Amino acid sequence: MTAEKVAKVIAAFERTLVAGDTPFDRFMRGDKSAMTVQQQKGMKTYEKAGCVHCHGGPMFSDFKLHFIDVTGTGRDDRQPMRTPTLRNLRYTAPYLHHGRKRTLQEVMVFYEKLMDAAAEVIDGGAETDPPFDPLLKHLHLEAEDFEDVLAFLDALNDEGWDKSVTKSVPSGLKVGGE
Ligand code: HEC
Repeated sequence: MTAEKVAKVIAAFERTLVAGDTPFDRFMRGDKSAMTVQQQKGMKTYEKAGCVHCHGGPMFSDFKLHFIDVTGTGRDDRQPMRTPTLRNLRYTAPYLHHGRKRTLQEVMVFYEKLMDAAAEVIDGGAETDPPFDPLLKHLHLEAEDFEDVLAFLDALNDEGWDKSVTKSVPSGLKVGGE
């Protein structure tokens, strides 16, 4: 394949991944009715809650590593993880790298608890190993914000997103595991 062809294939592939037709995208393009009133309120709450510090930009990710102490199965969890996108979450449950949060509501509860834990450690001058990401200082999520933030996250789902799963792979292994 020529480099030009490769670039075209990658661009075509990316178009299937980068959701450009969510209610949020239509809202940003000027269609003020694309997002519900609650979703618009949720967008502001999302900013206020400090999510944008890591989940910012068009993909709602800075693609950087952060330690946010998603305690899961063991010591391997105690390391910085790359910020995932928040697009199309409706189709990608369960959540977090260990897949232990079955709903986004559970992820909200995780962040609410994290806010208190991180503030105590960071403000108290103490450190965890590895240290909490300093951006967590901006986290400000209350239980009363959950519904609005969840409504906003729902505006990041693209109905037309290519969710199809291939029937076979070159390795011959069963798609989706045993
Ligand atoms: C300091 C950076 C940082 C901040 C601030 C932050 N996140 Fe995250 N977020 C991450 C990282 C890193 C992960 C991946 C963690 C993992 O899987 O171990 C993540 C994972 C998630 C996931 C799971 C996505 C998936 O596909 O499994 C959701 C949902 C999420 N964050 C929403 C939020 C919301 C809502 C806020 C604001 C209340 C927020 N995040 C604030 C860094 C951050």
